[in-house]
Amino acid sequence: MNKNPVGIFDSGIGGLTVAKEIKKILPQEDIIYLGDTARLPYGTKSVEAIIQFSKENTEFLISRGAKYVVIACYSSSSVALDILQKRYTVPIIGVIKSGAKKAVELTKTGKVGVIGTTLTIYSGAYEKIFKALDAQCEILGRACPLFVSLVEEGWFDHPATKLIVETYLKPLKEDNINTLLLGCTHFPLLMKVIKETMGDINYVDASREVGLELAQELKRLDLENHEGSGFISIYLTDLSMNFKEIGERFLGEPMHNVSRVALKGV
Ligand code: DGL
Repeated sequence: MNKNPVGIFDSGIGGLTVAKEIKKILPQEDIIYLGDTARLPYGTKSVEAIIQFSKENTEFLISRGAKYVVIACYSSSSVALDILQKRYTVPIIGVIKSGAKKAVELTKTGKVGVIGTTLTIYSGAYEKIFKALDAQCEILGRACPLFVSLVEEGWFDHPATKLIVETYLKPLKEDNINTLLLGCTHFPLLMKVIKETMGDINYVDASREVGLELAQELKRLDLENHEGSGFISIYLTDLSMNFKEIGERFLGEPMHNVSRVALKGV
């Protein structure tokens, strides 16, 4: 038993999709969430920059007593997870492996499409993990950077969104993938248009998978909290004009307890 909070970080407020699933699966765990809104987006920046930002984010969460750290950001999980795991004693998981495992389970020997930010797709993190899982399926990656802006703008069902989604996903559709892995915090919010475009195939949103993995991990390490109230404190490195409106879309409930925090490098 450990009453300390679970720490979650993301480049911004998109990772609240992961926090939302963790809250559902582990309602008694208190959560401390850090969104690095001042330095968002991560998906278009260099590997070196994202590793540095990820270290600072992790150190903030550890300094606030996090007993376990979840990297909700796919871009950060792609390039920084191994480095953070080696550097800190607090256990850390990312969002890449849990989604990949689910995709392998669903597709068996089929073709898996993976969509994410430019950094996530070009990092090769998914190819590496599918190889480590000894998966028999074929992986087809596609960077969809504009999806992030569409979600931030709230254009979930806009005609422009439909056109952009169709344009990005055309090669995956032509390749007859049977499973699509959503490798970015923002993409689950475009699920409706994505499904209209891709049709009846398997879809993997790793937010739920990482929540299930975290539950197993807390049990295994005897870190569960059976007495917490599921309190979530949110720290952001910048409070943009519309952070509340967008954040509530991701979290699916009103956002309370939001504070601005200054990190070392920000
Ligand atoms: N959170 C990022 C990710 O999941 C998307 C937004 C960004 O580029 O920072 O990759």
